Amino acid sequence: MKTKTVYINTIGCQMNVYDSERMLRLLADENYMPTSSIETADLIIVNTCAIREKAVQKVHSFLGRLNVLKKKNPRLHVVVAGCVAQQQGAKLIERFPQVNIVMGTHAVDQLPDLLRGVKPDGMPIVAVDMTDIIHENPAHTVMSSSGKEVTGFVTIMRGCDNYCTYCVVPYVRGREISREPGAIIAEIKVMVQSGVKEITLLGQNVNSYGVKEGLTSFVKLLALVNDIEGLERIRFVTSHPKDLSDQLIASFGTLQKLCNHIHLPVQSGADPVLKRMNRKYTRNAYLKKIARLRAASPDIAISTDFIVGFPGETDADFAATIDLMKTVRFDSLFAFEYSDRSEAPASRFSGKIASDVKYRRLQALLDLQKQIISDNHAALIGRVFPVLIEGESKNQQKKPEVPGIVELTGRTSENRIVNFPVSSHSPLDMDALKGQIMSIRIETAFLNSFRGVAVENQIESFTPERRHSHVA
Ligand code: SAH
Ligand code: SF4
Ligand code: F3S
Repeated sequence: MKTKTVYINTIGCQMNVYDSERMLRLLADENYMPTSSIETADLIIVNTCAIREKAVQKVHSFLGRLNVLKKKNPRLHVVVAGCVAQQQGAKLIERFPQVNIVMGTHAVDQLPDLLRGVKPDGMPIVAVDMTDIIHENPAHTVMSSSGKEVTGFVTIMRGCDNYCTYCVVPYVRGREISREPGAIIAEIKVMVQSGVKEITLLGQNVNSYGVKEGLTSFVKLLALVNDIEGLERIRFVTSHPKDLSDQLIASFGTLQKLCNHIHLPVQSGADPVLKRMNRKYTRNAYLKKIARLRAASPDIAISTDFIVGFPGETDADFAATIDLMKTVRFDSLFAFEYSDRSEAPASRFSGKIASDVKYRRLQALLDLQKQIISDNHAALIGRVFPVLIEGESKNQQKKPEVPGIVELTGRTSENRIVNFPVSSHSPLDMDALKGQIMSIRIETAFLNSFRGVAVENQIESFTPERRHSHVA
């Protein structure tokens, strides 16, 4: 069979990254090779995100650009997958007739069959049923067997039942469903065999993993993953603050491989806003959980998400958000201007905030965060962290090589990016270093990364007592 090529554009969250990898694996069995050349691809897939209007606009402009390519090559197949496909279904075809397949978030496993159904000059195909069961072909759930990656993602649950009033996810991803622990563990083991050292467990609210189905709890699942030999680090996203249990908090102090970082989206520091968002926790309850996390693991890095300009957000509400930031001093954050999603109830709330006000609030929040980060980061200079080496740094890839010196990049357990030089004489040295953990002393701090130096030449293996940093 002739080899064909597939170009895939993934927009959105790690769930989409994971689904895109699954699609590539399914397509490998159909003789499709991934390509980075959009002009020559036989198949173009865009895996889409509907979380904010800007993400949807990105999809529309990408699809618009494909018009020319499709005219040049009428045999080109165009697939729209993911959350916008789920949300807009057949409407996408009306607007973009160059699309051959619209496949929703529950249709990933059907991709090969759908492609076989595409006929020259045939009708476009729309597959957006929400099946509410996870179709798993174990042969296809195995990820990252390429052996190139040190880190990998595994989806442990899909969908969301929380219905935050601003959010489109429950409508485009469907009801919450957890995967069987056995399937998750088997998948991680295969990834570890192929060289993965760090795994991130994915779900919109991992704390409610297994509850509905009566499976193992999330904390027990973490313990099972922790037992996997050869795996060095475990991360997870996302935790909903309302469901962050004391047992999970305790795991940060006790579970050897669990990284010293939690992403705990707060969204707002004002109770009236949190209530209208249907987040089901108060500012105080959130602050208490932060205090417990820090008691369990004093150096834990905490990141969060904020939405500014939610309908009805007053100046006093926004001041409460700023105040919460000053109290918690997050290690990093994502902040977004509220964006109306037609499916979500907040789109029908009164008190919409003018876009210049949203913009000003976002800038004020980001300015404060910059200050906090530069203080936090300066305090880390001189400290030594175990860094899991992921490969060559971006600088190294961009600038011409200094003979014998290579700049590597990796992350600390706290998810901080650290670049550092090592001497290297051959590409073989590089392969040996990737996936190793080295102790690095932080020398320079930037806003999004650090530069450091190795404190010892010897490469150390991961041991629990080295999980946290120590002062050199
Ligand atoms: N399940 C995760 C969030 C997934 S969406 C959680 O509950 O935390 C990622 C982030 O996008 C959210 O945390 C929120 O900050 C932001 N977001 C979601 N809907 C949005 C909207 N309509 N407008 C602006 N930001 C939004
Ligand atoms: Fe959206 Fe809320 Fe579910 Fe997160 S928990 S995906 S914000 S509905
Ligand atoms: Fe976007 Fe869908 Fe993820 S809406 S954030 S890609 S679940």
